[in-house]
Amino acid sequence: MLSENPKVLSQYGEIQGDKALREAMVEYLQRMDLPTSPDNILVTSGSQQGIDLIARTFVGPGDVVVMEAPTYPGAIDVFRERGATILTVPVDSDGMRVDLLQNLCDKYKPKIIYTVPTFHNPTGAVMPTKRRRQILEIAKSTQCLVIEDDPWSEIYFERKPPASMKSLDKDGHVIYLKGLSKILAPGCRIGILAASGSIFKRLLAAKANTDLGSPLLTQKAIIPFITSKRMMDHLKKLRTALKIRCDLVLEILSQHSPEEVSWFIPKGGLNVWLTLPFWINTDHLLIEAKKDQITFLPGSACYPTEQENHHLRLSFSYMNEQQLTQGVTTICNLL
Ligand SMILES: Cc1ncc(COP(=O)(O)O)c(C=O)c1O
Repeated sequence: MLSENPKVLSQYGEIQGDKALREAMVEYLQRMDLPTSPDNILVTSGSQQGIDLIARTFVGPGDVVVMEAPTYPGAIDVFRERGATILTVPVDSDGMRVDLLQNLCDKYKPKIIYTVPTFHNPTGAVMPTKRRRQILEIAKSTQCLVIEDDPWSEIYFERKPPASMKSLDKDGHVIYLKGLSKILAPGCRIGILAASGSIFKRLLAAKANTDLGSPLLTQKAIIPFITSKRMMDHLKKLRTALKIRCDLVLEILSQHSPEEVSWFIPKGGLNVWLTLPFWINTDHLLIEAKKDQITFLPGSACYPTEQENHHLRLSFSYMNEQQLTQGVTTICNLL
């Protein structure tokens, strides 16, 4: 990029993000049946920054934020730091329990509902369209924003997941986050946020205050890949490779784990969520596992309020098959 475009480092990029990258992302999202426009896209330094920009713009001390329980720990930390009052809704195999959400929203009028509807982190649950629509209705009736955090809907193992909430949203309540870490390269620290109207303008102002825009060189460097057929081929390979790893982990678990252990069978994503008997504390198990050079995410990190300590999340994306076999077998033996 530098040899073809030596001036790229001698200028500030657009705060909103490089126009060519925003156009490339519009095309990319269009392929996922999510129509948007370059004007409604903000390039962020990963979706973590997207969550942070939204929190610092719309959440102050005491404001109510509704999260799934369990949920992505990085989002819990952001809302906690803003002094939010976090309320939780449990997750079942169809994602957030919408039947419990309505009452909660009627009573506490949240500012934000944060959800990972597709291959939920950490459980892997996929929310069906009906629930997605119900959440949109609730957001409309309570006048709150919905953050749809979507790092990996492209990584499906069987069939494509349901349409994104953003694509169903007629009223502009949804702020959509698409990180590129799980599908391209976490080291790039590039993600996008899609929103509209005054919500978008306020987020753009927050981005300006935070860093005057994400690094231009990285933004420009990834455009040729994203717009080429290679990106689509890469996603296909990723789906196949991760399914093989997921199947391997499930196979080892079913062969070697004690009977009392259960798990969600993921239909996509990078994680398997295990539930152990309630008297096993996975924080303690982690100390034992580390003695064998093994680590996992203990469930306690994923609960914003009442902690549950008898879960753990295994991630199967990074290690090769041999390492995975060794690691998961060791965890099963420890259990
Ligand atoms: C649900 C979810 N949101 C956001 C992030 C942060 O991703 P990024 O690297 O794009 O900042 C992660 C990373 O694990 C995640 O799982």
